[in-house]
Amino acid sequence: QYEIYLNGLISGSVPRLPTDLTRLERLAEHRLGPGPFGYVAGSAGSGATERANRAALDAHRIVPRMLRDVSARDLRTELFGRTLPAPLALAPVGVLSILHPAAEGVPFVLSSASSTPMEEVAAAMGDGERWFQLYWSKDREVTRSFLDRAGAAGFTALFVTLDTPLLAWRPRDLDQAYLPFLHGVGTANYFTDPAFLAGLAKPPHEDPNAAVLHFVSLFADPGKTWPDLAWLREHWDGPIVLKGVLHPDDARAAVEAGMDGVVVSNHGGRQVNGSIGAAAALPAVAAAVGDRVPVLFDSGIRTGDDVFKALALGARAVLLGRPYAYGLALDGQAGVAHVVRSLLAEFELTLALSGHRTPGGLDASALDGPTHGD
Ligand code: FNR
Repeated sequence: QYEIYLNGLISGSVPRLPTDLTRLERLAEHRLGPGPFGYVAGSAGSGATERANRAALDAHRIVPRMLRDVSARDLRTELFGRTLPAPLALAPVGVLSILHPAAEGVPFVLSSASSTPMEEVAAAMGDGERWFQLYWSKDREVTRSFLDRAGAAGFTALFVTLDTPLLAWRPRDLDQAYLPFLHGVGTANYFTDPAFLAGLAKPPHEDPNAAVLHFVSLFADPGKTWPDLAWLREHWDGPIVLKGVLHPDDARAAVEAGMDGVVVSNHGGRQVNGSIGAAAALPAVAAAVGDRVPVLFDSGIRTGDDVFKALALGARAVLLGRPYAYGLALDGQAGVAHVVRSLLAEFELTLALSGHRTPGGLDASALDGPTHGD
């Protein structure tokens, strides 16, 4: 964090982007057109869930402790048999025009709906830790092909997103007549897939509308149930993490199905309007899972103290969504690096100033608020 201070204070050079991620969002709103910005910023329905995400994090207050020697901090975090530099990863965000957004050694979860084929992303990332997010297709051959390709391209963990069996009601997309999928953006991962292409009468460049319709018809599957997970387990060698778990019974079911982790998430408020704030769901899920598998968290993380609170409420690590997409839109890979470094610097300071040296040392006793003493 000193580097960030020194850049501003001594060299007099103001950072190219705001370090406050809320201001970053406002800047993105000015720079991007209403369609693309609305797609990223937008949420389901009236935005009630997105507000609930903020309220659930804001409902907690950190209670700092003093005189505990915080001179040496260590953010490293064990996850899925690896040591990560910090308890942070970049969430899968579809249709980003990117090759390699990861920064500071933070793992990147590539969306199934990436606008760059997964093999190209993998080649650009080299040894960088990469995880693959699966939209669990109705078409078994497409799913199998995605799993094979992701395994061959060195993606280690599989994040299966459960909360998107259907696209939600998103007024900003509807009102702007903007859905990147329908514009053919964000479908390259599909349009380069042999199993997907086999289902088309004409190649996508000859009949883009038919290809997009085919994508929309098969990218997910509202018919899936818990026993279907056994098939995924058979076809993926590495860890499988279920993303979009909010109910403790679903968390238990995930563990019983042999899954390796869950992400407490409501998709950043983009799926069910009026749903529980993600941080409000976290303590019960963490309690249901216990020490059996790690619990990750996303939806609403904007500041270092948000990261602190999520860890104190039971998460091993957090995923960051919209803020890094804005960093990317405003300044490419440097913008993503700026967002990640700012968030981690603020988190490290919050940790130290609150009397803690490691993320693993946090629990609900670090907080005041609804779950304290649970
Ligand atoms: C997403 N998210 C998402 N999730 C997923 O599993 N696959 C995907 O393709 C996408 N695509 C996507 C696009 C955009 C524009 C956004 C904003 C989000 C959800 C994402 O992984 C994450 O759950 C939320 O973004 C976290 O909330 P915050 O940090 O944006 O509040």
